[in-house]
Amino acid sequence: MPVRQQKTKAPRNRTIEISGSEKAKLRRHLVRSKGLREPKEAVNKIVCGDSTETLGKLAPGSIDLVISDPPYNITKAFGKNSFKRTSLEKYESLLESWLAPLLPLLKSTASVYLCGDWRSSAAIQRVGIRHLNLRNRITWEREKGRGSKTNWKNASEDIWFFTVSDKYTFNEDAVRLKKRVIAPYTENGNPKDWRPEKHGNFRLTSPSNLWTDISVPFWSMPENTIHPTQKPEKLVAKLILASSNPGDLVLDPFAGSGTTPVVASKLDRGFIGIESDEEYCLIAQKRLGMVSQDDSIQGFTDGVFWERNSRVPR
Ligand SMILES: C[S@@+](CC[C@H](N)C(=O)[O-])C[C@H]1O[C@@H](n2cnc3c(N)ncnc32)[C@H](O)[C@@H]1O
Repeated sequence: MPVRQQKTKAPRNRTIEISGSEKAKLRRHLVRSKGLREPKEAVNKIVCGDSTETLGKLAPGSIDLVISDPPYNITKAFGKNSFKRTSLEKYESLLESWLAPLLPLLKSTASVYLCGDWRSSAAIQRVGIRHLNLRNRITWEREKGRGSKTNWKNASEDIWFFTVSDKYTFNEDAVRLKKRVIAPYTENGNPKDWRPEKHGNFRLTSPSNLWTDISVPFWSMPENTIHPTQKPEKLVAKLILASSNPGDLVLDPFAGSGTTPVVASKLDRGFIGIESDEEYCLIAQKRLGMVSQDDSIQGFTDGVFWERNSRVPR
């Protein structure tokens, strides 16, 4: 019988993995949706279970911010389960099924971000405006995408921004983008809207709804995991910094590899992360345990978001 070669990890591959012995230890930290007796048991925890069932057990009026990244309307495997592409109408009903128990949990000042792609966006907008105030749609240029001979390559995703009321948190100052200035105009001999620094001329620009400064996590990044649709920490950091304050409670009902709980923890917010696949729950738990050693967020340094490839050498 041929001997199967053990795959060795490339030296620069930093993908977070969990060994068999680690799993048992990590499992002890998870909360099971079925065993949840009091809402407070879910705070600052990864809750392993179905989101609709879990949401029904959380405290009404307790959530400041929701970041929801459910399976998009495409056929995709998530661990042991898979999502099958369906009609727009059925996808809309699915969104309604977990949004209904989520709405009573929101504070009157809460914000809600719902992620999707071009196929699911129409359903997200229709469902969202039935219950919430639509504020904006962010388009994230995620670059990576599968090429096609008969269609445009999909290299973007949408993040729909809703609020419960007209009173909500928006920390514009916390999410400005630092850009290199190509044409450094002056006015009366002084820099116009930019500053000369040691490594060049830079400007802090207002955050727009077109995000071109964030790449998907890849294998040489310390945040990378085996999750097939992991969101970048930099992307989630922008949402959390703009739409919540330290000490607020952030809910992610489809937490996957735990990006929202991890970033919330790095930015001193409370969190509740719900995920149905145990393997992903364990990865999320491992990532949370790593925050005490390293709370940095790639692309967010010295309190500033840097445009891609513009960060200065230290
Ligand atoms: C798009 S992924 C989220 C990825 C996540 N934002 C991250 O950064 O890793 C959606 C996740 O929802 C989970 N999921 C699907 N149906 C669920 C349900 N009914 N309850 C809880 N989680 C569910 C899937 O296992 C998958 O990990």
